[in-house]
Amino acid sequence: MTKTYYLEDIEVNALRSVSLVIREGEMVSLMGPSGSGKSTLMHIVGLLDTPTSGQVILEGVDASTMSANQLAELRNQYIGFVFQAFNLLPRTSALANVELPLIYSGVSATERTRRAKDALERVGLGNRMGHFSSQLSGGQQQRVAVARALVTNPSIVLADEPTGNLDSRSGIEVMAMLQDLNAQGITVIVVTHDDRIARHAQRVVRILDGRIQSEEIVREPVRAAIELRDLPPEEVAG
Ligand SMILES: Nc1ncnc2c1ncn2[C@@H]1O[C@H](COP(=O)(O)OP(=O)(O)OP(=O)(O)O)[C@@H](O)[C@H]1O
Ligand SMILES: [Mg+2]
Repeated sequence: MTKTYYLEDIEVNALRSVSLVIREGEMVSLMGPSGSGKSTLMHIVGLLDTPTSGQVILEGVDASTMSANQLAELRNQYIGFVFQAFNLLPRTSALANVELPLIYSGVSATERTRRAKDALERVGLGNRMGHFSSQLSGGQQQRVAVARALVTNPSIVLADEPTGNLDSRSGIEVMAMLQDLNAQGITVIVVTHDDRIARHAQRVVRILDGRIQSEEIVREPVRAAIELRDLPPEEVAG
């Protein structure tokens, strides 16, 4: 596929004849310098944007044949997003943030709360459900964002620089969670600038100037084995 942006008279070729297959259950890192087209590719794969030409085939379905409503439904059903800037609602509890995607899918209030609690427990934040985003550390906020991405039971999780704003320990915690989701069968695509982070995946795809430059199989992906557990509040600094 190709993606061209037009800014007044200037043509920006964000993606140029990119051809990429991601297999079900794979974990892939996408690397490349700033402006190379990584986020553009993630937005298109995540059905948030459409290519200028070419096709996106998701689970055998050609996305270009679908209406905006069908795309939104497909996105809700299959895809979870994690962003660099967490994108949580401020002055809103962790629990309410995680429940949000379920409101759009029309799940009942009791079921929403049950599933959101379960997702927060899976990321080790069972004791932080009532905290506002602003009362959580960066690493904890990103864990809330991961819980929000997985609460809909997606088959694909797309993470755009999920460790970009985190210290290295919190970054590894996030990678541990993504690897854990992948081990449960979820397809994971992670954008990163960091080679060590990239090597947590089974394949590294490098993109340069809107083109795929190389693909590398990682023989022994780094295992991010950090145990996430609920600490009693008095043991948590800050
Ligand atoms: N909405 C837009 N309108 C016009 N140009 C855009 C738009 N979005 C992205 N671009 C351009 O497309 C190119 C690719 O941008 P993209 O955001 O995909 O890069 P990236 O690889 O994610 O970079 P970074 O690592 O800095 O996040 C850039 O030249 C950018 O300026
Ligand atoms: Mg980007």
